[in-house]
Amino acid sequence: MATANLVSIADLTNDEIEEIFDLADASDKLRSKKVVHGKIMATLFYEPSTRTRLSFESSMQRLGGTVISCSDMQASSAAKGESVADTAKVVSSYADVLVVRHYWDGAVQAVAEHADVQVINAGDGGHEHPSQTLCDLYTLRKEKGELKGLNVVICGDLKNGRTIHSLVYALARFGANVVTLAANGMELPHYVLERLEREFQYTLAPVAGDDLSAVVTETDAFYLTPKQPHQLALFTALDSTIQTRITSLVSGLRYDAFYMTRKQKERMTNSAAAGDYPTIGSKFLREQRFKDTVVMHPLPRVDELSPELDKDRRGIYFKQAAYGVPIRMALLHFLFEKGRRARISKTAKSSVLFESPHPIGPHCPNLKCITVNEPGSTRLRFELQSEGPAGALILRCLYCDHRFKVQLVGQATSKKYCAYDIALADNIARWLKNGELAIFDSIKQAEELGYGPYKSGPRRAIMDEAEVDSAIQQISAQILGDCDDPDRLLIVGVKTNGSMIAQRIASHLERAQKRKFELAELETYGAGEDLRRVFPVDPELGPIQLRDRSIILVDDVIHTGRTVKTALSIIFRSGRPQSVRLAVLIDRGHRQIPVKPNYVGKHIPTADHERVRVHLRELEPDGKDTVLVYSIINPSENRS
Ligand code: NCD
Repeated sequence: MATANLVSIADLTNDEIEEIFDLADASDKLRSKKVVHGKIMATLFYEPSTRTRLSFESSMQRLGGTVISCSDMQASSAAKGESVADTAKVVSSYADVLVVRHYWDGAVQAVAEHADVQVINAGDGGHEHPSQTLCDLYTLRKEKGELKGLNVVICGDLKNGRTIHSLVYALARFGANVVTLAANGMELPHYVLERLEREFQYTLAPVAGDDLSAVVTETDAFYLTPKQPHQLALFTALDSTIQTRITSLVSGLRYDAFYMTRKQKERMTNSAAAGDYPTIGSKFLREQRFKDTVVMHPLPRVDELSPELDKDRRGIYFKQAAYGVPIRMALLHFLFEKGRRARISKTAKSSVLFESPHPIGPHCPNLKCITVNEPGSTRLRFELQSEGPAGALILRCLYCDHRFKVQLVGQATSKKYCAYDIALADNIARWLKNGELAIFDSIKQAEELGYGPYKSGPRRAIMDEAEVDSAIQQISAQILGDCDDPDRLLIVGVKTNGSMIAQRIASHLERAQKRKFELAELETYGAGEDLRRVFPVDPELGPIQLRDRSIILVDDVIHTGRTVKTALSIIFRSGRPQSVRLAVLIDRGHRQIPVKPNYVGKHIPTADHERVRVHLRELEPDGKDTVLVYSIINPSENRS
């Protein structure tokens, strides 16, 4: 039988979601349609549940189906160490649909790969909870009409809350705006933000500081919108029209819904679980601007929602939970019908898949991913994305969605490896097509698989120590010449080389002005899942204020412009500066993003297949600055 699964909210198109809503509106009539009659549902819950499991079971029975259940997997063979893969295979022959909740991110995808019947994700770790999102959207639509253009505030543990992740993707798809109000340290994970940016062009802008302060004590509020207001601010001093436009976007907002969530303590270390958490209660009820704001919550609540709200017309979370039955009846009917019609989900976007040609290969960096915790139930498969910052090649884990940068690539026939470079794009595409592309986490891994290194062409030095010094001095002098208010100046280096150059610029300025200048840095790519911010070079100085600052963003080489674009997103996510100017030691051309640096040490025309490497004395064993250009010998010419 063809299967139709619901593992991620991305498995349903907007039209299909609307179809499910229409079915839910007339859920009483679904029983007589007999699509689900006589079918058996197995519920496999590796984590506690009240609403999700009982509403699925109730829905199945109302539709004329029956249920077998392992509500406590500790009472199943899982307790003896049975894998998710084996459980999926076995239970597939007892039931027609598996509803699965598991504590590892991506576990339900693994179940779906091994089951022969339909699989529904009832929550996989901190990743997704798509059927909850159907209840949430249905509730919102019932209360507010159209979803497009709604302003929805999501509050609390945005990092670990799986309901939040599925919800923001869906809200973006339906064109709603999202205001994020995260509890301290529990911001939306970076992989979620990247997906919002990549697939829906949603970017974050800060909400005016006091806009929501009446509700909770948190200060960080961000507005996620497809309008990309800050793109207008690229390297120009923000003129007053743009400034007004940004301000009018974020203040005076109409708040349609406030979606509160519980602190997901079970996914945290004890110390993280102990911190403060926002709550909403009577203050919220009194605020005039929230008079039409409905309050939602996936439940269970702990103490983040005061019981006072229960009696208020705006507290709709019990209604939201009650919709669980008609929505899940509609979903089951829809999936069985879809399975019968063997329709393939139209949302399955044409993505480029990478599967390792070897039994070992790259690892997902997410320590809570099923691929890390139960590799035997998964395959070494990733989506390959070629438009990362600075032309980076990105792997997206097909199980948990986390993304990471490819460092080393290899060619499986010649058994050669080299560091990834954008100039290898054509080779990589060919190797991928022929199933010869290998990707490694480390040189050790490549060498253990019998790979040896490719060679690079001859190197030529294009700048020596004196030239690097004079270029940085000249950039510093120009910055000073343009600067009318040194108090506003903030120098932000892109780690690692950009930060070193930023420090040298700051010392030039300090010598010339006989005063201190504030220095900060940012990282455009890291393994961590936390939201990246601009942070001070000296951590003792506390958080950096970006509001109204004149920022000089510093990097060593500008090439495609992608790093700068990412750096800008990070800056605008951290605050609202007055202007951002870009200083680079080297401009090597080949821009893919229209960014023009304001200060350039040296223009170096380069060919596409060449690499430019800046070696700075702070990091070099010989303590010398040099800039080298070398070509990469085309690996395909090297084939034996
Ligand atoms: C949520 C869950 O399990 O993710 N509950 C639910 O399914 N309604 C939310 C939570 O546990 O906080």
